[in-house]
Amino acid sequence: MENLITLVNKLQRACTALGDHGEESALPTLWDSLPSIAVVGGQSSGKSSVLESIVGKDFLPRGAGIVTRRPLVLQLHRIDEGKEYAEFMHLPRKKFSDFAAVRKEISDETDRETGQSKQISSVPIHLSIFSPNVVNLTLVDLPGLTKVAIDGQSESIVQDIENMVRAYIEKPNSIILAISPANQDLATSDAIKMSREVDPKGERTFGVLTKIDLMDKGTNAVDILEGRAYKLQYPWVGVVNRSQADINKNVDMIAARRKEKEYFQNCPEYSHLASRMGCEHLGKMLSKHLETVIKSRIPSLQSLVNKTILDLETELSRLGKPIAADAGGKLYMIMEICRAFDQNFKEHLDGIRPGGDKV
Ligand code: GDP
Ligand code: NA
Ligand code: MG
Repeated sequence: MENLITLVNKLQRACTALGDHGEESALPTLWDSLPSIAVVGGQSSGKSSVLESIVGKDFLPRGAGIVTRRPLVLQLHRIDEGKEYAEFMHLPRKKFSDFAAVRKEISDETDRETGQSKQISSVPIHLSIFSPNVVNLTLVDLPGLTKVAIDGQSESIVQDIENMVRAYIEKPNSIILAISPANQDLATSDAIKMSREVDPKGERTFGVLTKIDLMDKGTNAVDILEGRAYKLQYPWVGVVNRSQADINKNVDMIAARRKEKEYFQNCPEYSHLASRMGCEHLGKMLSKHLETVIKSRIPSLQSLVNKTILDLETELSRLGKPIAADAGGKLYMIMEICRAFDQNFKEHLDGIRPGGDKV
């Protein structure tokens, strides 16, 4: 039986394969219904650092200004053994083992779509990472919220980014990973402002507090981390990512994770919270949560998948023969994936239904 997160990953990829996450047929509805985790935060709040730390690899483009200009759908696949590698959906069959090349391809592929105009585009890039060091997880990295356009970017970019982020996180199936830096007032956090708008009760928002090591002397984050400053249904997670100086010195991820652990264990204010702090804990918690959410949605996803199959069949017969080879071929492929999905769902349902054998 396939892992549920892997299954949903496949469907997500199938939806995107039709282009622009499927303007045709029933696919937009299906895409919108698949649970996913969207990463939200202001520029320089630490989004890339958190993602890299969860993956345990340096692979994201960095630099000043608006670096992330297209959504990056990052699918992590845990493999039992072997060397880690990455694959882009737009470059099937090409395996990247050099993560500096992954970074370059993300930025080249961003430019291919936005024409080096430094504008943004809502067409996602799909990247899969296969590694023994990751948990099964899908995260969508979104452009950072910003207040000012910089040279070469139109004034509308500030609003465009906000609209794109909102479009992702307002879907009720979206889980929000809200990144706020501890060295700024939480009341001014872009991530909190935006997530509060779409999830006022904090029922699907995970708060992450970065840069705890950069807080003013004499202040600490205990009120936030214990949920008193801003209450969310799930516990806040504090992290300490690599500083710019660490990055310049090429401090590797393994060393950074160890330093982060030591930081929380050795700070008297935080030692009682140490077991639920840090990016490694965050990754595990999100993976578990995503799986639970998918499980709870199986019945509704299953009926949606079945409806999609019917719609695709109708569409295919409307296209008639000879089918426009390309469109027809893709629709067929997706229908097949949906059918396989339906079968897998049945197995998972048997596994969780009270009285089923595999409970
Ligand atoms: P993004 O724009 O939200 O993706 O932010 P980045 O992850 O690129 O981080 C912006 C800058 O803040 C980089 O120079 C990071 O090294 C630094 N940074 C991020 N998180 C932390 C942290 O927890 N502690 C320290 N000291 N620096 C951090
Ligand atoms: Na922020
Ligand atoms: Mg970034």
